[in-house]
Amino acid sequence: MSRRVAILISGGGSNMVALAESMTGDHPARPVLVLSNDPAAGGLEKARAMGIPTAAVDHKPFGRDRAAFEAALNAELEKAAPDIICLAGFMRILTPGFISKWQGRMLNIHPSLLPRYKGLNTHARAIEAGDAEAGCTVHEVTAELDDGPILGQARVPIEPGDTPETLAARVLPMEHRLYPAVLRRFAEGDRTPVMLP
Ligand code: GAR
Repeated sequence: MSRRVAILISGGGSNMVALAESMTGDHPARPVLVLSNDPAAGGLEKARAMGIPTAAVDHKPFGRDRAAFEAALNAELEKAAPDIICLAGFMRILTPGFISKWQGRMLNIHPSLLPRYKGLNTHARAIEAGDAEAGCTVHEVTAELDDGPILGQARVPIEPGDTPETLAARVLPMEHRLYPAVLRRFAEGDRTPVMLP
């Protein structure tokens, strides 16, 4: 029985595409839902084109009522009954109450070498700090933001003259290699971190 994977996105969904494309052949998992908090997210159209069921729960009508938004999100997830949830560029902060429902089954990709640069503007902060390298991390989601056991990391050099945009363009292809590698291992029940390159 293949493991059921739901992928949560907010934008273009390039990591979602990399994950979905990896789940073929003898892969132990299959995508069962792509879910977005933004009905206009470009990734939803890409998922539909790949034949993956999609749903959107717009966070805006919920205003500051995070609990109600998360209840609606959770209802969509429960319908899809995923074994594993991959946050892939999902840009809403989730509360501990929501996370506890899926803890141990939810992964996130973050564009920094955690524990450095939790939160936003990671590449700008790495350049500003004069770091020699940057990268991305896949970790298990726990109640603390961008925390939780690290399941994989990929590193790239920061070059002289890098801007947040040029650095992001170097990190993103590594995200597309790292996340599928971690998901495959995780779906096989192996939490040994994947270290790239
Ligand atoms: C990716 O770089 C991902 O690491 C980042 O958003 C981008 C989404 O791109 N995630 C975060 O910043 C999470 N805090 P994508 O929609 O093309 O996958």
